[in-house]
Amino acid sequence: AMQGLMGKAVALAPDSWIPGGKPDPLIRHQHGHIGKPVTRIDGPLKVAGAAPFAAEFPLEGMVYAAVVHSVVARGRIAELDVTAAEAAAGVVAVMTWRNAPRLKAPPVFLSDPKAASGDNLPVMQDDEIHWNGQPIALVLAETQEQADHAKSLVRATYHAAPAVTDIEAAKAEGTKPGVFMGQPLHNKIGDAEEALAAAPVAVDATYTTPGHNHNAIELHAVTAYWRDGTLRLHDATQAVSHTAWTMAKMFGIDEKQVVVTSPFVGGGFGGKTLWQHQVLAACASQLTGRPVRLALSRESVYRMVGGRAPTEQRVALGADRDGRLKALIHRGVTPKTATNVMPEPFILPTRSAYASETMLLDVQVVELDMLANTFMRAPGESVGTFALESALDELAHALSMDPIELRLRNEPEKDPTLGLPFSSRHIDEAWRAGSERFGWSRRNRTPGATREGEWLIGVGCATATYPYYRMPGGAARLTLTRDGRASVDIAAHEMGMGTATAQTQVTAERLGLPLEAVTFNYGDSTLPGLVLAGGSQQTASIGASVIAAHRALVKELLKLAGNDSVLAGLDADEVGGHDGGLCKLDDPERCESYASILNRAGRDSVVVEAEPPMPLETQHWSMHSHGAMFCEVRVNTVTGEVRISRFLGSFDCGRILNAKTAASQFRGGIIMGLGLALMEETQFDPRKGRIMNPSLAEYHLPVHMDVPQIDVMWTDIPDPHAPMGAHGVGEIGITGTGAAVANAIFNATGKRIRDLPITLDKLL
Ligand code: MOS
Repeated sequence: AMQGLMGKAVALAPDSWIPGGKPDPLIRHQHGHIGKPVTRIDGPLKVAGAAPFAAEFPLEGMVYAAVVHSVVARGRIAELDVTAAEAAAGVVAVMTWRNAPRLKAPPVFLSDPKAASGDNLPVMQDDEIHWNGQPIALVLAETQEQADHAKSLVRATYHAAPAVTDIEAAKAEGTKPGVFMGQPLHNKIGDAEEALAAAPVAVDATYTTPGHNHNAIELHAVTAYWRDGTLRLHDATQAVSHTAWTMAKMFGIDEKQVVVTSPFVGGGFGGKTLWQHQVLAACASQLTGRPVRLALSRESVYRMVGGRAPTEQRVALGADRDGRLKALIHRGVTPKTATNVMPEPFILPTRSAYASETMLLDVQVVELDMLANTFMRAPGESVGTFALESALDELAHALSMDPIELRLRNEPEKDPTLGLPFSSRHIDEAWRAGSERFGWSRRNRTPGATREGEWLIGVGCATATYPYYRMPGGAARLTLTRDGRASVDIAAHEMGMGTATAQTQVTAERLGLPLEAVTFNYGDSTLPGLVLAGGSQQTASIGASVIAAHRALVKELLKLAGNDSVLAGLDADEVGGHDGGLCKLDDPERCESYASILNRAGRDSVVVEAEPPMPLETQHWSMHSHGAMFCEVRVNTVTGEVRISRFLGSFDCGRILNAKTAASQFRGGIIMGLGLALMEETQFDPRKGRIMNPSLAEYHLPVHMDVPQIDVMWTDIPDPHAPMGAHGVGEIGITGTGAAVANAIFNATGKRIRDLPITLDKLL
């Protein structure tokens, strides 16, 4: 049925499709698979329990592992008594620094394109403690229950050393400039403090956000075993190839001697990368000579998998009486560890958000003795937009101006800090369409003035923004067989966001095949490509590889078709995929089916592998996903309870490849944003450096009752400079949401809460 929708052949993406050349003609194509709300192809497998997750591989002779964690933040292990644990029923071994295999330090993220580790601390190699929660022993037993019991019998004492675990005390000692992806987190245009002081209208406030921990429903887990000198890991990861390479480095073996598979991941959000558990499981398998399953408990995830660091952000805005920004200051402090490369980069969204005559953006860091923090959905943008977009709302209130009008009045013509033109920015359209759908004009502008019984009602809005990235994703392999089927092989990831489905659509559309004829193989480090499911860029990255492979395939097919074909004499740019074959563009009569081409050539299949152009587009344009967020809240005047009653996200993210999976990504991001606004908070004890609420009972996340119907819409305007015209949709939903909620709460109550999460005590 889908195939019937497809009309005629569509031209190939030209070799020069990026950057600056002719755009890919498919990005405006409205009659095929692209953009359709195709249901996830992995859905039935998951619903039927037929999708094996990392901790679900039953292997002969498996041992089950449980982790013992340090309870001091710094120092040395004095005594580590494992005799009782070793003697417990079913225990096979207890691994500590004394008997763990010797390893090299993990290559830290960014030290190499394939490096995956959050920090470069040794993994169970000595008696030194670097954070409260560090693994000090791994108990291995015949059953999980036996391992869990025996771990309670491990006795440790410590020579504790002074540790830096208090942010305030660390700040008093001085801060260091923050660096993100090799670049200083600092921008300066003119003298912003002076402009602020001179501005007729100004706001200047400090916003704080707490630490957040990763809470994917699927706990971090790995099944590890060695076979014929090769380490095999069934992992839950956003980075199969990176993990394989990094593990190989640590074990001092060839990259090909590590095979990582991860076809299904129950949520990633930036946290499903390489942490110590994969390394410990591989070591334990070497130590015991048996397959090891290490499925972390929820507490162990909190102790071993980093999250988002807290931030303290000052945002100061100075404006003319007509709302034009004269000064924009966004600066503050966030903690990280000394060994990791990931300060929470909260100024990122501000760099390209608004035109202001002057600007001062700066992130300072303090270094704490704690678990390395990491990427967590929209690192930087989620908490950065909370501060920035709250401040915009405060300025609008000070100016008595509509906050949407204030934002539109400060729309920049080009990127304010890069000086580059925007590749595609239709945020004004997102605001216009969103306002209309939400009924923004009907709001009561006076704070605290709309009441229904004991509930105060208010609405708020904020801008959402997330950068477009495309990493060099390497090659994709494309195979076309005589029976008219195609398959794509690339080491990509499916964390539930619809990767496999969207790429099946892209491939089927290019080839002119029905979706059922295309298979997308992924989640295996032995496949081609080096793809990170992160930075909302996997779709662009793989799509670019698929486009390149498709172009190579068509050239190969034309060669095979030869002089006897109706296609003879045509070159790749004159043909396109249509109805199971190649056709001359604009001439549906001049076609030869794939089956016929391969038959005549005496071939069963054609296999090509090709790499996409380097991702140079971001050197020519400032590229971002955009959104306009609208929230309606009800705040109970008796209990302080906040209920989100309506939420609308109006997005401008280029071409939407799959209306169903994109909508789910937007909604998922918004739900995480509601958690950020109202609930999520890591309780970090500054005296001990220990996380005090490592469970879903005490770390609150939105549940169904907390989430209203979430409406989403989008402009669907393709970006001519992005492969497939698409920008990322994975992370933008969490951005702007915190501020939209806080701004709605202000409109409802007249109370401006600048400290997340907005719990009821702050409203009473
Ligand atoms: Mo995302 S925080 O880049 O997985």
